[in-house]
Amino acid sequence: MTGPVVCTTVAQLREEIGARVTRGARTVGLFPTMGALHDGHARIAQRTRAENDLAVVSVFVNPLQFGPGEDFESYPRDLDGDVARLAEVGVDLVFAPSVEQMYPDGTPVVSVTSGRAGSILEGATRPGHFDGALTVVNKLFTIAAPGPAAELRAYFGEKDAQQLLLMQRMVRDFDYPVEIRAVPIVRSEQGLALSSRNQYLSAEQADHALVLHRTLRALAAGELTLERARSAIDAEPEVRLDYFVTVDPGDLSLVEPGPGTLALVAAWVGPTRLIDNMRI
Ligand code: PAF
Repeated sequence: MTGPVVCTTVAQLREEIGARVTRGARTVGLFPTMGALHDGHARIAQRTRAENDLAVVSVFVNPLQFGPGEDFESYPRDLDGDVARLAEVGVDLVFAPSVEQMYPDGTPVVSVTSGRAGSILEGATRPGHFDGALTVVNKLFTIAAPGPAAELRAYFGEKDAQQLLLMQRMVRDFDYPVEIRAVPIVRSEQGLALSSRNQYLSAEQADHALVLHRTLRALAAGELTLERARSAIDAEPEVRLDYFVTVDPGDLSLVEPGPGTLALVAAWVGPTRLIDNMRI
């Protein structure tokens, strides 16, 4: 099995994509990640592979989307492991730039801002997080742009529902020639939504974290009200609720639970912040 070509510079990635488009690739799938790839990522990478002539995965822990005191320094990094996983999936190119390559002048002067939709929910606890994520993805879209001969599709997981919505808005608001494809949440057998941060959980904490999925399911089935779902989470040992809301998936405005709405939950399990969601 030959693994993916690992590109560490913008110029190298552009050259590789350009060469493959010249050789006939008509669809380019881009899956942006911060690495530490788990089975949830593997599922998205498989779709990126299956649906495109050329499959590109970026692995970049983006400092812009971490706030002061967040886990940028300690965020899990394992490029060799990630590349091995992506080789199994048959990904063609991995883009793994350094921070200096992506931000040669330090913090960029011009960046993307997400306004109100980026400052509520996750954005309320993580100010600037979505602006940082949008700014780096904005760069990735331009770096991976295959030109008029091929289509660019970008893949995002539904677990980060607010991020997905903001990416869709950015494409719409900036008229990017990029199609966003959403991939459903992958869960452990017990129901925990897979996340790179799950590796911070002890076995007991992982058990307690199952309350997120349990309450989402009960709410979606009409067995719990929002109020009771919130109390159930707070009653779970080691779990502290941040928010449990239902929103209009179009613009994230708060609505009563009902068909077509999206239930979003965020909680700390010990020191680890987890999010999950479910369509009602
Ligand atoms: O979802 C993530 O891992 C990141 O926010 C993303 C989209 C790769 C941007 O850094």
